[in-house]
Amino acid sequence: MTNLLVAPSILSADFACLADEAHLMEKCGADWLHVDVMDGHFVPNLTIGPVVVKSLRKHTMLPLDVHLMITDPLKYAEPFAKAGAWGLTFHLEAVNDPNAVIDAIVKLGVKPAASIKPLTPASAILRYLKDLHHVLVMTVEPGFGGQAFMADMIPKIREISAYIKANNLNCLIEVDGGIDVATGTECAKAGAHVLVAGNFVFSALDPAAAVQALKRISIS
Ligand code: DX5
Ligand code: ZN
Repeated sequence: MTNLLVAPSILSADFACLADEAHLMEKCGADWLHVDVMDGHFVPNLTIGPVVVKSLRKHTMLPLDVHLMITDPLKYAEPFAKAGAWGLTFHLEAVNDPNAVIDAIVKLGVKPAASIKPLTPASAILRYLKDLHHVLVMTVEPGFGGQAFMADMIPKIREISAYIKANNLNCLIEVDGGIDVATGTECAKAGAHVLVAGNFVFSALDPAAAVQALKRISIS
């Protein structure tokens, strides 16, 4: 039985103490650290840029799973890669030529990933899965932490999982938005491998117990 990977989202952390929050996530047993980048254009919120990723990199060994909720991922892939991103996830909805973005990310030596918003069907991303390290299925509208999980995303996860299995691909399925033990279990049953969790982990009285509870969910 394989365990799920857990990627706490630092969007829910205290931004005045990011190094401490990253250390805490390491101690809690997190697998990746999910870093939400928002440009105030692709989504109606602003968060962080490469300078913050560069500083974070110095303070944690965790792979930085950088989620680019930005209009021009091609322009910013290099600065984020140089800053120390381990994986770069762009939004399929943001680009005209996904293959060009994937190629650029691979050339930078970073794991390529792509994400789809709730209204984008699985069919839009299937042809790119063979070239992706992971696919990020949004289970809320991107932009803010602490939103309610959209249960109607489960069939989408199932469809992507079936395609990956049918074609023997190595692409991991990551889910993001409103994840806790109950919703994470539903996602795992549908085929998810990586759970992003913001509020569930950072607002927990015992963040280590929260991370471990997510990791104990078994993969189907
Ligand atoms: C939303 C972000 C998520 C968010 C998840 O746009 O992509 O990563 O931080 O936070 P929770 O787990 O609180 O929904
Ligand atoms: Zn995210």
